[in-house]
Formats: sequence, structure tokens, C-alpha cells
Amino acid sequence: MGRVIAIANQKGGVGKTTTAVNLAASLSVAGKPVLLVDSDPQANATTGLGFERDADRQSLYDVLLGDARLEEVRLATELDMLDLVPADPDLIGAEIELVGVEGRESRLRNALSEIRQSHSFVFIDCPPSLGLLTVNALTAADGVIVPLQCEYYALEGLSQLVKTIEMIREELNPSLKLDGILLTMFDKRNVISHRVAEEVHGFFSDRVFRSIIPRNVRLSEAPSFGKPVLLYDTRSTGSESYLALAREILDAKAIA
Ligand SMILES: Nc1ncnc2c1ncn2[C@@H]1O[C@H](COP(=O)(O)OP(=O)(O)OP(=O)(O)O)[C@@H](O)[C@H]1O
Ligand SMILES: [Mg+2]
Repeated sequence: MGRVIAIANQKGGVGKTTTAVNLAASLSVAGKPVLLVDSDPQANATTGLGFERDADRQSLYDVLLGDARLEEVRLATELDMLDLVPADPDLIGAEIELVGVEGRESRLRNALSEIRQSHSFVFIDCPPSLGLLTVNALTAADGVIVPLQCEYYALEGLSQLVKTIEMIREELNPSLKLDGILLTMFDKRNVISHRVAEEVHGFFSDRVFRSIIPRNVRLSEAPSFGKPVLLYDTRSTGSESYLALAREILDAKAIA
């Protein structure tokens, strides 16, 4: 049975999509069948894997509205073991169209049930909000990874996210786990990065991943070539850091 992991933080630009794409790619090259679900109307994970925005292509929107099955909208990517469920801007509408629909928080969970058998990991890239799309992701997930940018104000809003996770656990998904906080865009020459890392360890101690993602220009260039970084520059520190994170997650899974 695959593990479903939401990548969430309502703060924008903290590395959610970069993590979703590159962690999914790293696990797939380790031989694990992985599905990446793009649940952000910005569709950055979709374009980051080389697919143009296309209003005519079916997407997660059609799945959430009950007009298509996940299996029908799933796309093969350049990596053999990595599939994508694409997003499109219509997804913004889903938040509104599902208001008043019974079980609206569980649409993604139900859709994923048919695909969990065939994939070792399912990652859900969340939008920068705590709206219905993120609630659907957290309701569908076994675990959540929270990327945290090593900058000023990194911890701002984190208590709101933790409260949301607790609320989902109580009301919708009792087995949801905080898999870990992931420090991103770490700059070892910058004193702020070290201070944020220290503070986060103080708060979350063993819930912080040992792997840290450095600031690396290759990671920011790769999406414009429609590739995960390991296909763009395998030897970059960005690529190595996500491969190390994948190993850390596989080791933790072996222990669990
Ligand atoms: N480790 C890194 N080093 C350098 N640039 C990075 C790194 N991680 C992310 N970036 C860049 O920072 C920007 C924001 O990253 P990303 O899109 O992954 O964040 P996000 O949390 O998904 O944003 P949003 O909230 O808008 O969905 C992007 O331009 C990305 O290429
Ligand atoms: Mg994003």
C-alpha cells in the first residue's frame, strides 16, 4: 500500500513545488513507482515536469468534480516510474463549486483509493492557502511534509498550519502524521539561515528532516526546462540534496 504525502505550507514560495517535483523524481529513480498530484491552480508542478498549460486536457479539477477518474487523467513523465496528475487554472473554481457538496473534503481521498495499490508514494503539491484544496490533500494524506524557507518570518503562520493539521486529525483524518519539517533554501554563509534552523529544531526537535535543501541555482533553473533537477544537472548540490532526502524517507519507512 502506497504512502500518501501532502507537501503543505500556506506561505507562498517556500519550496513546496520544488520539493514535490524533486522528491518524487528522486524516489522514482530509486525504483519506486511514484505519483505526483498537482493540486495548485498555478500548475507549477505540471509545467515543471514539461507539460504546457492546456485548458482542454483533463486535470485534477475533473477528478474532484467527479467527471473523470484519476486513472484517466494520469500522465506518464520522462521518468519511467513517475506519473503526474496535472492541474489547471480551473482548479480555483473547484474550491467554490464544491461548497455545499456533501463529503467535499474527501473527494481526493476517495479518488486516490483506486491508485494507492499501484504506487509506493503519492505526493500532493498544495497551493499556498489553507482552503479546500489543501484540506482535501490533508484528508487524503498519511503524512505531511512542511517545507520551511530559511529566511526571516519563516515561522510566521506555522502555528496556523499546525492548528489546521490538528483540526483535520480530529475531524477528518485521525491517522494524519506530521512527517517532518524540511528546511529549504539554506544558505550556509547567511547567519539568518543558521538562526532559523536553530529555532525550528528548538520547536520541532526530532520532527525536522536531517536532510537540508541548500539554496542552489540549478534547482530554480530546472523548471524552465520542464525537468526535475536530476535530469537537468545530476551532480548539482540541489540534485544531491533531494536524493539524500529520498534516502532518509526510505530509511524511515523501513523502520516504521
Ligand atoms: N533550494 C532552492 N534554491 C534556489 N531556488 C529555489 C530553491 N527552492 C525553490 N527555489 C525557487 O524559489 C521559488 C519558489 O519555490 P517553489 O515554487 O518551489 O515554492 P512554492 O512553495 O511551491 O511556491 P507557491 O507557494 O507559489 O506554490 C521558485 O522560483 C523556485 O525555483
Ligand atoms: Mg508551488
